[in-house]
Amino acid sequence: MTTDPLSLAVNWNYPTPIKFGPGRIAELADVCKVAGIARPLFVTDSALAKLPIATAALQLLSDAGLGAALFSEIKPNPSATNVIDGVAMFKRGGHDGVVAFGGGSALDAGKAIAFMSGQTRPLWDFEDVGDNWTRADPKGIAPTVAVPTTAGTGSEVGRVSVITDEETHTKRLIFHPRIMPVAVIADPVLTIGVPSHLTAATGMDALAHCLEAYCVHSYHPMADGIAIEGLRLIREWLPVACREGTNIEARARMLTAATMGAVAFQKGLGAIHSLSHPVGAHYGLHHGLLNGVLMPYVLTFNRTAIEPKMEVLARSLGLPRPGYDGVAAWINGLCREVAIPRTLAELGVDDSRADQIVRAALVDPTAPTNPIPLEADAVRALFIAALRGDGRAP
Ligand SMILES: NC(=O)c1ccc[n+]([C@@H]2O[C@H](COP(=O)([O-])OP(=O)(O)OC[C@H]3O[C@@H](n4cnc5c(N)ncnc54)[C@H](O)[C@@H]3O)[C@@H](O)[C@H]2O)c1
Ligand SMILES: [Fe+2]
Repeated sequence: MTTDPLSLAVNWNYPTPIKFGPGRIAELADVCKVAGIARPLFVTDSALAKLPIATAALQLLSDAGLGAALFSEIKPNPSATNVIDGVAMFKRGGHDGVVAFGGGSALDAGKAIAFMSGQTRPLWDFEDVGDNWTRADPKGIAPTVAVPTTAGTGSEVGRVSVITDEETHTKRLIFHPRIMPVAVIADPVLTIGVPSHLTAATGMDALAHCLEAYCVHSYHPMADGIAIEGLRLIREWLPVACREGTNIEARARMLTAATMGAVAFQKGLGAIHSLSHPVGAHYGLHHGLLNGVLMPYVLTFNRTAIEPKMEVLARSLGLPRPGYDGVAAWINGLCREVAIPRTLAELGVDDSRADQIVRAALVDPTAPTNPIPLEADAVRALFIAALRGDGRAP
C-alpha cells in the first residue's frame, strides 16, 4: 500500500525544528525570518549551485527580500580552506546567518562557517577532543538553517561538522552543541535528482549510522529504538529509491531514515567510520560509498561482540533468517542489489598507505565505541580484507 505523499508533510521539534514533506522548501524565507536571519549566506557546493533546485531556493530568498549571497567554493569532503574562505565572505557581506543547502559536504561546510563566523581561535582548536568545545564563544555562533538534498549523512540534525585536514589527510570532527542547525527543511522533492549510484552510496551512510549506533555497547534504548526503525525504513525503501528515483514516498522515507541515523549516532559509531574517514581523506572518495564497501567486512570483524544484538535486530526487521547470519545475508544482498562494489581495490585504493590509514583509524573519534576494541594488527587485517575481498560475510 502506498501513502499519499501529502500526508507526509509534518512539523517535528526533535531534535531541532524540522519542516518535513514534499514542497516545504517554499517555506525557506519564513524559516529564516523566524530564526532571526535577515541576510543569509547561502552555502552550497559548486555542482549544486548550477542546478535548478539551488537557483530556485536562492530566488525564494531574494523574492522575500532576504538578498542572499551565494558561497559555493566547497569540494566534496570539505576542507578547512573552504571554511576559512566562507567565513571571510560571511564577514565581508555582513551576514547574520547561513542557509546550508546540499549534501553532507555543503551542510558541514555551512555549519562550520556559521560556527566560526564569530570565533577568534583557529578551526582545529574546536576538534571533538575532550572539552575543546568549551573554548568556543557561544555568542559568536551564527544560526544555520539546513536544507539536505541527499538522504545520507543526517548532518542537518548533527552537532558535528566533518572537515578534512589536507595536511594530515585526516577527517576531523568539529563539535559544539550549538553547531546543530536551528531549523531544518527536509523536502524529499529536492533529493529526486540524486542519481541512482549516489542514492545507494548516501543510503549506505544512513545505514552505517543506524547499524553502528545500534551496535555500540552502551545503555541508550532511545537511540537504539531510533536506529532500528531507521534500519527498517532503509530495508524497505532504499532499493525502491535506487530503482525509481521519482518515487516520492521512497525519497521521503529515506530522508527520514538519514535524519534518524544522525540522531541515533549521538550514541557513537564504529570501525566502518574509523576506516572510511582516513581512506576518504587519502583517496578523495565518497564517504557513503566507502561505508557501503566496508560494512560487510566490519560486520564479520565484530561478529563475536554483536551476536546477541543481531538476534534482536533480525527479529525486529522480520528477516527471513534469524540472528547474525540473517543480518549479514540481508546487508550483503542489499549491497549487491544497489550495486555497491565488493572491494576497496575496485575504488582505486591500494595498500601503499596502509600504515597511515591504520594509524589514523585507531585514533579516529569513532574508534573507541566499536564493539570490539580496535588494535593495530586487527585493523590492518580488516583494511586488507576489504581491499582484496577476503572473508566477506556469507
Ligand atoms: N556531519 C555529519 O554528521 C556527517 C555524517 C556523515 C557524513 N558526513 C560528511 O558528509 C559528506 C558526504 O555528504 P553526502 O554523502 O551527502 O555527499 P556530498 O555532499 O559530498 O555530495 C555528493 C555529490 O552529490 C551532489 N548532489 C547533492 N545533492 C544533489 C541533488 N539533489 N541532485 C543531484 N546531485 C546532488 C553534490 O553536488 C556532490 O557532487 C562527507 O564529507 C562526510 O564526511 C557528515
Ligand atoms: Fe557517516
